[in-house]
Amino acid sequence: MIVNTELESKGNQFPSNIVNFQKDVDKLYFYTDNDVILELTVVRDSVLRFRYTTVGNFDNDFSYAITKYASIGYNKLEIDDKKDCYEVLTSKLRCEISKESLRVSIYDAIDGFLINQDEIGFHWEESYQYGGNIVKMSKISNDGESYYGLGDKPNHLNLKGKRYNNWVTDSYAYGKDTDPIYKTIPFYTGLHHNKAYGIFFDNTFSSSFDFAQERRNVVSFWAQGGEMNYYFIYGPAMNDVVESYTDLTGKPHQLPPLWALGFHQCKWSYYPESKVKEVTSTFRKLKIPCDAIYLDIDYMDGFRCFTWNKEYFPDPKRMVKELAEDGFKTVAIIDPGIKIDKDYAVFKEGLENDYFCKRADGAYMKGKVWPGECYFPDFTNPEVRDWWSSLFKELIEDIGIKGVWNDMNEPAVMEVPNKTFPDDVRHDYDGNPCSHRKAHNIYGMQMARATYQGLKKYSHPKRPFVITRAAYSGTQRYTSSWTGDNVATWEHLWIANIQAQRMSMSGFGFVGSDIGGFAEQPSGELFTRWVQLGVFHPFFRVHSSGDHGDQEPWSFDEDVTDIVRKFIELRYELLPYLYTAFWNYVDYGTPLLKSLVLYDQEDVQTHYRTDEFIFGKQILVCPIQEANAKGRRMYVPRGNWYNYWTDEVVKGGKEMWVDADIDSMPVFVKEGAVIPKYPVQQYVGEKEITEITLDVYYKNGKEKSELFSDANDGYDYIKGRYSLRTFSLTGRSNELIINQHKEGKYITPYNIFEVRIHGLPFEITEIQVDNEIVSIDLLKSNGTQTIKVDKNFSELHVLGNL
Ligand code: GLC
Repeated sequence: MIVNTELESKGNQFPSNIVNFQKDVDKLYFYTDNDVILELTVVRDSVLRFRYTTVGNFDNDFSYAITKYASIGYNKLEIDDKKDCYEVLTSKLRCEISKESLRVSIYDAIDGFLINQDEIGFHWEESYQYGGNIVKMSKISNDGESYYGLGDKPNHLNLKGKRYNNWVTDSYAYGKDTDPIYKTIPFYTGLHHNKAYGIFFDNTFSSSFDFAQERRNVVSFWAQGGEMNYYFIYGPAMNDVVESYTDLTGKPHQLPPLWALGFHQCKWSYYPESKVKEVTSTFRKLKIPCDAIYLDIDYMDGFRCFTWNKEYFPDPKRMVKELAEDGFKTVAIIDPGIKIDKDYAVFKEGLENDYFCKRADGAYMKGKVWPGECYFPDFTNPEVRDWWSSLFKELIEDIGIKGVWNDMNEPAVMEVPNKTFPDDVRHDYDGNPCSHRKAHNIYGMQMARATYQGLKKYSHPKRPFVITRAAYSGTQRYTSSWTGDNVATWEHLWIANIQAQRMSMSGFGFVGSDIGGFAEQPSGELFTRWVQLGVFHPFFRVHSSGDHGDQEPWSFDEDVTDIVRKFIELRYELLPYLYTAFWNYVDYGTPLLKSLVLYDQEDVQTHYRTDEFIFGKQILVCPIQEANAKGRRMYVPRGNWYNYWTDEVVKGGKEMWVDADIDSMPVFVKEGAVIPKYPVQQYVGEKEITEITLDVYYKNGKEKSELFSDANDGYDYIKGRYSLRTFSLTGRSNELIINQHKEGKYITPYNIFEVRIHGLPFEITEIQVDNEIVSIDLLKSNGTQTIKVDKNFSELHVLGNL
């Protein structure tokens, strides 16, 4: 499958000289004398699209990845016909296209720095077997250049020196070196000389990336068919590259309901009903917060989607209602394989309407999955997606299921050598008929999209919640995701940490792993350490195969239960902080997790770090990833940081030892941060929140923090019914000022902020709220200085003696 990009490869062909040039608004066409055309689109001043054909005309331009909401438009576009090249100039980039070879060089328009340069550039090999081309691109890898992104690759965060393939694959018990696995996100960020840029190769065929592995100074990417079609995205800040990529491929269409950011408990499988109830009531009895309980495939009748096993679940509607009364949202699994059974309504409808995938010569695509032999809906057909979405009416509207979990949508097929559809299977591809070679990588995405459509409709006016295993770029618009069938080992804890960070820098933030490991059984210690990491992953779910024992928080010993409870409680306290980060992600594409390189690219020490990351904007986390640890060494990025547990301030920019026995983990808060916190609840909505705590971390200097609030579900926030509070902190040696700026029409249920000031270097002599002196007798001190203020304060001024 993998083809080298070597220039020596016998079949390689290359563009010849440019003979003609044309401009059509934002599209520039460069014609060569061997039928190669380069279409360069100026998407934005910092985003250029390069598209090549070798046959003198382009195919229909269609992409599942690019969203119709992507920002377009530029401030400047000048084209200069020079002696050896064409020069394209925007306000951010200068791009040269060589007349002799069509090779591209891209410079920073402001300082003239060469950011990215073609090596051979575009070349191709004819595919005699399938028709079309194997399309290839090679670029120079610069001194000290690092590479990041590419979705769920389970190895080192920095991709340099590695080669990867993208072909969505069911990968039970994958390891660090397994490639490819579940997702295809052909997007990476390159970083050198403090300039970051991104490349998104929007091609759904099997694609490969070589990050200076084959040749030390060359990066190349290629695909087994389709067009050479990529976007170049300039930063120079890595965060801006990721935000632009996310803008292009789409932010989630709405915020998740807040409960979806709570804790989820899952297992293959909880049944019958009494077992489900036993699990949920134990959570309540032991006072371990939990919002969601999952039903895996055994809830169905013979694994037929959209049916119930009436022996295990005689009255699902009643059960789901009772669970809801106890604060549990029920999430159910739905797979793509539809059992071949002429008495099964979903199968009959699919067959009658010709909704199932077919082989090249017209036979149905038949494959074995859990229910035995199945047919598979062609989710790339919009009519099939509409039908599929309508199937959720009963499950959601009538029975009251709150979330749907899409699995096996690579699509996974058992007992065949390649574990998926054969290449010849036909797909509609939204009116661009093609084979599975082209549709494979987006099949799962389109299934999740159709599921999302159904949930969005039938959950209304509440928000939908979907989870998917398979994904292509852009899938984040519709759904959350998990990292598939991992294993209960320490190495997998390391992998989970990498994957969540990598997905975040690949535009897909709402991600988590099967906490504790899906296959095999974790020790209590491993389980505890994994929950600790999970607190800081956007999707927070324990799941296991159930073959090797239980993985509920009480399945180990009492110490484990107590520590796990404490950490899940921390997650519930941090919900307003995480929700605010989510709002930033949904509105601006800001990554939810920032690897250190994404946080501080200027500091080269961060370029090869893997373990530490920033959760949201101001909390630094580093999981413990080995047994018997009493702490660990970690790199603390530049700036001053408060140890979350002790309030000790450390100066970053260096590696240091941090104590973290089993009941703790390294967590730091950026100085100057204002961290909003909820009281602990057993589930979202258990309590009416009348007070929010603001943990204020004194800084001699300035820092901005935010708090976003709304109804925690529904769509009112889109109509302006949200509340965004910006806290601007200014600290001096004997005073601390917090100014609040308010925006939005939502009236929050909370009226009071309990302000807890950490690390104040002076003794308080006076406090003013909006210029009025408040009695300092109101100050409580329990390590921190605490005062309650009205939520609408404009300025809180704390004065003191040195
Ligand atoms: C797959 C999923 C796993 C699920 C199982 C049964 O292995 O990845 O999460 O529990 O199928 O449905």
